[in-house]
This record gives sequence, C-alpha cells and structure tokens, in this order.
Amino acid sequence: DGSKLWGGRFVGDTDPIMEKFNASIAYDKRMWDADIRGSKAYAKALEKAKLVTAEEKDYILHGMDQIHDEWAKGVFEVKPGDEDIHTANERRLKELIGEPAGKLHTGRSRNDQVVTDMRLWLRDAISILKGNALQLITTMVERAAVEIDVLFPGYTHMQRAQPIRWSHWILSHAVALSRDVEQLQEINRRVNVLPLGSGAIAGTPFNIDREMLRQELAFDDISINSMDATGQRDFIAEFLFWASLCLTHLSKMAEDLMLYSTKEFSFLTLSDAYSTGSSLMPQKKNADSLELIRSKAGRVFGRCAGFLMTLKGLPSTYNKDLQEDKEAMFDCFDTVHAVLQVTTGVVSTLKINPSVMEAALSPDMLATDLAYYLVRKGVITHFCPPPHSLSFPLDPPLAPLSSPLFSSDVSAVWDYSSSVEQYSAPGGTAKSSVAAQVEHMRTWLKKQVQ
Ligand code: ARG
Repeated sequence: DGSKLWGGRFVGDTDPIMEKFNASIAYDKRMWDADIRGSKAYAKALEKAKLVTAEEKDYILHGMDQIHDEWAKGVFEVKPGDEDIHTANERRLKELIGEPAGKLHTGRSRNDQVVTDMRLWLRDAISILKGNALQLITTMVERAAVEIDVLFPGYTHMQRAQPIRWSHWILSHAVALSRDVEQLQEINRRVNVLPLGSGAIAGTPFNIDREMLRQELAFDDISINSMDATGQRDFIAEFLFWASLCLTHLSKMAEDLMLYSTKEFSFLTLSDAYSTGSSLMPQKKNADSLELIRSKAGRVFGRCAGFLMTLKGLPSTYNKDLQEDKEAMFDCFDTVHAVLQVTTGVVSTLKINPSVMEAALSPDMLATDLAYYLVRKGVITHFCPPPHSLSFPLDPPLAPLSSPLFSSDVSAVWDYSSSVEQYSAPGGTAKSSVAAQVEHMRTWLKKQVQ
C-alpha cells in the first residue's frame, strides 16, 4: 500500500485488525494544535537550512493554517489510513499544497515529532491544572479566614484527640495542595525541553537550527542527546506520579468530609449541587461527589503503575510501546482537571454546623492540657488519666488526679477556647497561629499568579 507515509517498501495490505491496533489517531488527535505548531516551526528551520525555498515555506505555513482552521471548526476529516495525528496532518497538507508538503518531513522523524507534540501539549495542560489548583487553594484559604472561630474535635487514629480549629483542618489540606502546585512547576522545567531536531535516533545531518526551533516554540532548553530525547518518557512518568500524589491528598480530604457529613457526625452538610438522592430510600442524600473524588485516585494510580510497567524492560530509544504514553497522560489530565473543579465546588458550597461541631468536644480531649498544666507547675509528668474518670466541670480535688499543685487557675484548662489558645507556636491551632497560616498562604498564592 504505497499511499502510507512509510508504505514505499511494503507490499500487500496491512491486516485491518492490525491497522486499527497500530493506530493512535482516535486519541492523539487531541494534539492537533501542538502538531501544527511544531510543523510550522520546523518549516522555518528547513528554510533557514536551505532545504525548502521561502516560497515553499510559505505554502507549508499557509497550508498548516488551513488545517488549523479545519480542526478548530471541527471539520477536519480523518481518513482511513491516517495512523496518527502526524500522518493525518501531513496527508492533509499534501492534499492542500501538493509537492512541497513532502519536504516538511526532511530530517524529521515521528520519533522526535511525537515527543515534541506531547511536551507542547503537556505544558499547556500543566498551566490549566495549576490554575485549577490555585482556585481550590484560594477557596480553602478564604473559607479558613472566615470560619476561624469554629472549634471541633481533631482526630488521630480516627479517635478523638484534641480540640482544634476547623480552619486548622482546612489549611492542613490547603498546604498539601500548595506542595502539589510547587511540584507541578518543578516538573514543568523538565517538560519544557525541546527534542525536535533529534531525528529518529541519531540526530539530524542537516543544518537545522535547534536554537531557533527552541525560540520559535518557547522551550527553555534543547535536549542534549538525541537517543535519550526520542526514547525517554520520564516527564510523562513524573506527571502521572504527580497526579497520583495530588489525588491522594484530595482523596484524604474527601474521606474526612464524608465522615463529617454523616448523620452521626453532622458537622457539615454538602450542597445539593454535589449530592445525589437514592432511588429507593427517600431519606438519603449521598455524597457522590466525595466518593468519586476518592475513587479517581485509584484510577490515576492505575495509569501511573501501568505506564511504568510499560517502560520497564524496554530497550533504549523509540519503541512502539511508547505510544501507550498518550492515553495515560490524557486520562490523568482529564481526571485531575475534573476533580480539582468539583472539589472547589464542594468546598465552597458546603455548610458547617458550628454548634454541633463544638458540642462534639468533650473534657476527655483536654487530658493532654491537664498534663501540660502540671508541667508548667514544675511536675515532670508522664501521666495518662483514664478518660472515663474525668467529668466536666472538674470538681477539684478530683480523686484520681488530685495534686496539691491544682489551684483555681486550672479552670482555664476546662475551657475549649482557652485550651486551643495555648497552641500558639507557628503551625499550631491557636487563633494567632491559624491567622498566620492564612496570611502565609495568601502571600504564597500571590506569588503563584505573578
Ligand atoms: N503514533 C506514534 C506514537 O505515538 C508516533 C511515533 C511513531 N514512530 C514510529 N517510528 N513508528 O508513539
């Protein structure tokens, strides 16, 4: 079949099942814009290398603009035999401008082309995800600022531990997400490297000005080894791991919220916009949004583990196995993109029940504070009062805890608001500390949008 880009040497037809098996156009057409940007830059480099004339270059650029229009309008026609986005765009270029189209591939291989497209695409995707994450963090930080006076039980091992501010809980999740944003920026440095000009494996024998290509396509650097450039997908693996860690954070937050929204806790109520009803049990309001946020983490881990499995054992340079990188990348982007937006919606619309939250506090949660009280009185204490022996209000002397060191100021320990105020070191749950965390996050957010 001589009509294929690589068909010259082949005799006979490809098995249609093989053709479908081999093709990636169904999903890699999402990179149509990146592919066109790369080709336009490459046409300019070809002209500079005197491999095409100025006129031929203009034909190519003009043709590529027309193809761009067709994709943008949704009228680009994928034809049977269009194996991937690269062959489809080039086939169309040939239809539009004839012979000069063939010259576009001079010195270029789909091996350096595909990885250039992916880097261009992922760079844009990363900037979208960063925006989504910053919006969520802003929502959380501002909510923390408004609801700073609300206290509720903090849990370790899912057991009642110490009274904390609700805002302290919110910020604990916002801080984790801020690390995700920083890591995403870190990854972007390694995504933003130009592989074009690496050819299939050995580089290019022509005067292709890679520095000019770098500037045209706004990459920070050019790749330093053509075999590595065409055969490595570290930046994809890093992105998939990033998505996994980010969704681990959101899954944890979703799990907390799910628990807090149960009838038994009743700390908060999800908005109807993010809940569903039951077809059978009319009293139910299910936290489907939170359950899906939690579950998407598993989906993304699977993509990450699956792709690492594909990479393991591959020989160096390009192998068709690498075509599997794209569905993992697209799916992780789509998933995290949706999860971040839904989480923003959930967090900005849920209603808390401050009186229920505070009523859930109980004196046993002050056992640590009572020990600290004695520490301040000079007792080196390792005491561990059995919670059930405490009652509120404490009526000193309390039999199991009697100490001559208890004086009337112990009553301050039995006040939840003054209890949390003791935790005023940076990072703690005192109002001043939580307010400082809010300020820290606001400053951090301002730096991100600059
Ligand atoms: N569709 C291919 C991919 O996604 C493009 C690269 C094909 N290169 C090759 N030599 N067959 O990986």
